Amino acid sequence: MANVIIMGAQWGDEGKGKIVDLLTEQADAVVRFQGGHNAGHTLVVDGKKYVLHLIPSGIIRGKKCFIGNGVVLDPTALIDEMQEMANLGVSITGAGFKISALTHLIMPYHRELDIAREKRKGKGKIGTTGRGIGPTYEDKMARRGIRLSDLYNRQVFEAKLQENLAYHNFMLENFYNAATFTLESIRDDYLRMADTLAPFVDDVGTLLADAMDAGQAILFEGAQGTMLDVDHGTYPYVTSSSVVAGGACSGSGVGPTHIDYVLGVTKAYTTRVGSGPFPTELTDAIGKHLYTVGHEVGASTGRPRRCGWFDAVVLRHAVRANGITGLALTKLDVLDGLKTIKICVAYQRNGRRMETMPADPSIMDVCEPIFEEMPGWSEPTVGIERFEDLPQNARDYIQRLESLTGVPADILSTGPDRVQTILRRNPFSHTR
Ligand code: GDP
Ligand code: IMO
Ligand code: MG
Repeated sequence: MANVIIMGAQWGDEGKGKIVDLLTEQADAVVRFQGGHNAGHTLVVDGKKYVLHLIPSGIIRGKKCFIGNGVVLDPTALIDEMQEMANLGVSITGAGFKISALTHLIMPYHRELDIAREKRKGKGKIGTTGRGIGPTYEDKMARRGIRLSDLYNRQVFEAKLQENLAYHNFMLENFYNAATFTLESIRDDYLRMADTLAPFVDDVGTLLADAMDAGQAILFEGAQGTMLDVDHGTYPYVTSSSVVAGGACSGSGVGPTHIDYVLGVTKAYTTRVGSGPFPTELTDAIGKHLYTVGHEVGASTGRPRRCGWFDAVVLRHAVRANGITGLALTKLDVLDGLKTIKICVAYQRNGRRMETMPADPSIMDVCEPIFEEMPGWSEPTVGIERFEDLPQNARDYIQRLESLTGVPADILSTGPDRVQTILRRNPFSHTR
């Protein structure tokens, strides 16, 4: 059976949740490998909407779901989400849900640091989700982080917490002029939550290896998007994890030789939440159209998403950095009714044409997009399930994107619902 990575090819919110849910039918297990509850993955089944932040989107189909070691885990957020899913009638326990003991914990001081830092940056802020993601990954790399497994050794946990509080309280109080924390308040809360989570804590890397040995198919569910990757994105306006396909391996404990197909999810246009360069951004009536028709409001923070034309430079960058096999092109229906559609085919600066993303992302801010125009289509594409039924101009647009990015659009999405999809080639049937 094939193992497939599904990841964002733009700045996040490409529709990964919908595509993961769709393809989970073919998978035996779904694993999240990076990020945390900064993610908001939406899926709609029979008109019922689910938004997942930490729990893999495969949970809706009752498949085995794993949180890999590369994720940063806020136990409060996870327990709330488990309750929310239970309220919606989705069983967590029945699905064999497991969390890697190696995940790093988001602590209350990480959230405080995230918010205090953004406040201090003022206009130059990154526009983070304020969930403590960055400071938690910093502690991981600084080798002082607290992992889920530490909660089950009280002595180790207390010692680590003490050491972390001494450091972070000093920074909070003296550098950020922000609230500090006592050991007791955090310790007691976290130990209580450790009891709730105990049945789910496991060795996820080994469970995945066992599943693959048994011939099972694994789906790796990425969060965020390539342009938010800490190395390959628009640094410093990025998140703090390895978003790219390579991160699926290190973030789950599975070697790259096990991966058969990388599916890059992209909108038929572009959106971005938070600050940072965005060459094809539209602040005119068309930007408003994309925002309104596309309901472009953040699934996690409720912030409006910035909207713009499709950027083939960004997509070629994503194809290269992830080794994308094929694309899932979503929200095609949002372009319905536009007279003309523009595609950014390259950038220019000081009269020089650039086909690839500038190595220094700050240059991206001052690049001018070079646009190509295509005629739009007036017929609605909403809910179309066969490629042949799409208007000719929509098919031409898709073909142009394929030729500009060099990869096939194997999946097309024509609405938020699971069934509003055109499956041209199934990634799980793909063999290298
Ligand atoms: P993710 O973070 O990549 O999973 O994406 P989000 O869930 O944050 O944002 C994508 C939004 O677009 C959600 O509200 C989806 O329900 C919606 N969506 C996904 N695919 C389509 C589509 O083809 N057409 C339309 N109109 N909406 C879609
Ligand atoms: P999904 O998985 C879109 C953005 C934030 C901010 C930057 C850093 O739903 O696609 P962070 O809190 O991670 O330190 O914020 O990254 N960001 C996202 N944008 N979709 C997401 O997730 C995002 N997760 C983080 O807006 O610009
Ligand atoms: Mg999202």
